[in-house]
Amino acid sequence: MDLTELTRMYDFTGQTIVVTGGTGILGGEIACALVGCGANVALLDRNLDPAQGLLDRLGPLACQVVVAGADVLDAGSLRQAAQLILDKFGKIDALVNAAGGNRPQATTGADRSFFDLPADALRWVFDLNILGTMLPSQVFGKLMAEKGEGVILNVSSMNAFRPLTRIPAYSAAKAGVSNFTQWLAVHMAQEYSPRIRVNAIAPGFFLTTQNKFLLTDEKTGGLTPRGQSIITHTPMARFGQPEDLFGTVMWLLSPASAFVTGIVVPIDGGFSAFSGV
Ligand SMILES: NC(=O)c1ccc[n+]([C@@H]2O[C@H](COP(=O)([O-])OP(=O)(O)OC[C@H]3O[C@@H](n4cnc5c(N)ncnc54)[C@H](OP(=O)(O)O)[C@@H]3O)[C@@H](O)[C@H]2O)c1
Repeated sequence: MDLTELTRMYDFTGQTIVVTGGTGILGGEIACALVGCGANVALLDRNLDPAQGLLDRLGPLACQVVVAGADVLDAGSLRQAAQLILDKFGKIDALVNAAGGNRPQATTGADRSFFDLPADALRWVFDLNILGTMLPSQVFGKLMAEKGEGVILNVSSMNAFRPLTRIPAYSAAKAGVSNFTQWLAVHMAQEYSPRIRVNAIAPGFFLTTQNKFLLTDEKTGGLTPRGQSIITHTPMARFGQPEDLFGTVMWLLSPASAFVTGIVVPIDGGFSAFSGV
């Protein structure tokens, strides 16, 4: 092994990678980084409005991108998206399941006790995170099974290891995503090909639209007590930036992790390692 050999593993030229939630904050940043490393990327999302901003940002590299409208909860729309991507790039090598999230109605607080969380809000969170990971894995994983190779990267969360207060459905759903990651890794390797790998990242706390309302004060922009508590419990004493994800994402998608499957990697500034004392 020398530096050239190592570097070549991170050259994704000619690879096609589908990113669900690809126009979201973390999905969009991962997608742009993959394009920068040579990949052809399919931005798969139900909300395509932010896609133009990403394409503008990529400039001439935008020719490596296809924008595919699909709902991760609708297998038919995912199959249509898969066809569109195959028509454009000819094959699909990897899937990043980045669509996911929580909603305020499934979050406890001063005005909403656990006993009053509406079933439809709880179901929405389970569906988006669990079914929204399983259905794309069925549609795109089937293509990988036919080819005998591929990589699936799920996006779990810190709260999958130990639940965080206030977000019961999101915590349980992401624990489900971690569990499903292990299940699918074993299933794909044993039933289809040891060259199909399934792993997950578990990001810590990144300030994005879906958690801003919990971590920062809408009026002052300062940290809420919860936001401050997170920083206090993060040895690196900061929130994550999307760039913090890139090295691990590239490693798990690349041949550099050829013998790694079924793991969930925390990217959390040490949060999960810290006992608080
Ligand atoms: N931010 C964090 O600190 C953090 C920490 C740990 C894990 N995560 C996970 O990281 C992933 C990305 O999070 P993010 O913060 O970047 O959130 P985000 O900006 O809300 O991105 C999620 C994207 O998924 C899309 N989406 C939602 N439902 C969909 C559906 N049914 N079909 C297709 N697309 C759908 C969203 O579209 P809409 O805009 O239309 O909803 C959005 O574009 C999520 O799985 C999240 O749970 C985030």
